Amino acid sequence: MTDRSAKQRALEKFATFVNPQKVRVLKAAGLDIIEAERSGPWVWDLDGARFLDCFTSAGSFNVGRRNPRVVAAAHAAIDHLDNGNFLLCSQAKAELAAKLAEITPGDLSCTMFATGGGEAIDFAIKLARGSTGRPRILSSVNGYHGHTGFALSAAGRASFRQPFEPLMPEFVQVPFGDLDALSEAIDEHTAAVLLEPIQGEGGVVVAPPGYLAGVRAACDRVGALLILDEIQTGLGRTGRWWASEHDGVVPDIMTTAKSLGGSLVGISATVFTEELREFLIPNPFIHLSTFGGSDVACAVALEVIAVIEETGLVEHAAAMGERLFAGLHAIAETRPEVITEVRGRGLMAGVQYAEDSFGPRMSYHLARHGVLAIYSGNEPSVVRLMPSLVIEAEEVDFLLHALEQAIEDLVSGAGPEQDAPARPRRRPVRAAGAAAS
Ligand SMILES: Cc1ncc(COP(=O)(O)O)c(C=O)c1O
Repeated sequence: MTDRSAKQRALEKFATFVNPQKVRVLKAAGLDIIEAERSGPWVWDLDGARFLDCFTSAGSFNVGRRNPRVVAAAHAAIDHLDNGNFLLCSQAKAELAAKLAEITPGDLSCTMFATGGGEAIDFAIKLARGSTGRPRILSSVNGYHGHTGFALSAAGRASFRQPFEPLMPEFVQVPFGDLDALSEAIDEHTAAVLLEPIQGEGGVVVAPPGYLAGVRAACDRVGALLILDEIQTGLGRTGRWWASEHDGVVPDIMTTAKSLGGSLVGISATVFTEELREFLIPNPFIHLSTFGGSDVACAVALEVIAVIEETGLVEHAAAMGERLFAGLHAIAETRPEVITEVRGRGLMAGVQYAEDSFGPRMSYHLARHGVLAIYSGNEPSVVRLMPSLVIEAEEVDFLLHALEQAIEDLVSGAGPEQDAPARPRRRPVRAAGAAAS
């Protein structure tokens, strides 16, 4: 239902009590949206406009927003559980940890829970330093791992780090994809190399062929650990359970978060080998988090994984990804002056535009055509397209059509001063047996 005044009130209150500049920036990008109804791959603004959500909180809604099965599991959990006592053992934690051991590659089999991605990375780094007794962490230029202490120290964007320096010592960033640079930097002081298999905030940069395997070998050579951050790339996003599977590389430590909470709860996990757990045997209380892996959140996460497994969502993401990339490449071929490259895997796509300003402007034009897509934090010339994995073929086509129209607007010089075209408001008709229902 249209309610422009409620939307204005929400924006004004947000500006007053949260941050006015955030409102100004989002408005300029056509993204001054107040999310109201949410369902599957769609979200409705409080003023009634409908958007295909291709940002998905940077890959947090893989099973769709408010997936009915996950919502039901959350209700059931709330009926008889709560957060639980974090110092005690927990049935829900035990079940989810066992499931994570089953779905993660190789000999990853033990879990530490947390509430968000940054926390999971912090623990991964603590475990690496604690286990190896070494100080140095190598991460990548333009890499992104969150804003908590250790994670921020590993951030590949100086502007995130600099206001808070001095950060943790012995963090070094090397260019992503450059094996020579990594080989030169790694040595017997290195505790771990921390990487995303595909840089997300960095602009959807896929590790070049052989890079991850080369990093794995370099780590093995000096006795360093490999931490792969699958927080954005995992849980089916790239058409495999984990993006590192495309390269056949198994890390010593892997992090997952975002979509694990099914768009409803905050939960993350650091999954590691039994060998590394040795560090925690004499120190079982050395890392604590009151809400990390709460009983309700674990129940939700178990249902998320069940939905992915039972609805064939990983395979579905691969098929929809093929359709998306075929369409993106076709559009890129006809518009070389606008799009210089299309990158990614599965349903993690990055469209590289010819100019830095095109990213924010394309976010604006896409929003006018009913697509919520935000340019990358570390690389504004790239717009990420990361829809929910429950997206269907006609919705992929809707996205491609909107992209073509948005490019038309861009090249014809349309801008924020022009009237927005009427955005579709109808509810999408979703098949009862759609992938996530
Ligand atoms: C790859 C990656 N790692 C870590 C994080 C941090 O996760 P959180 O925001 O839940 O702390 C993000 C968030 O976007 C991410 O994309």
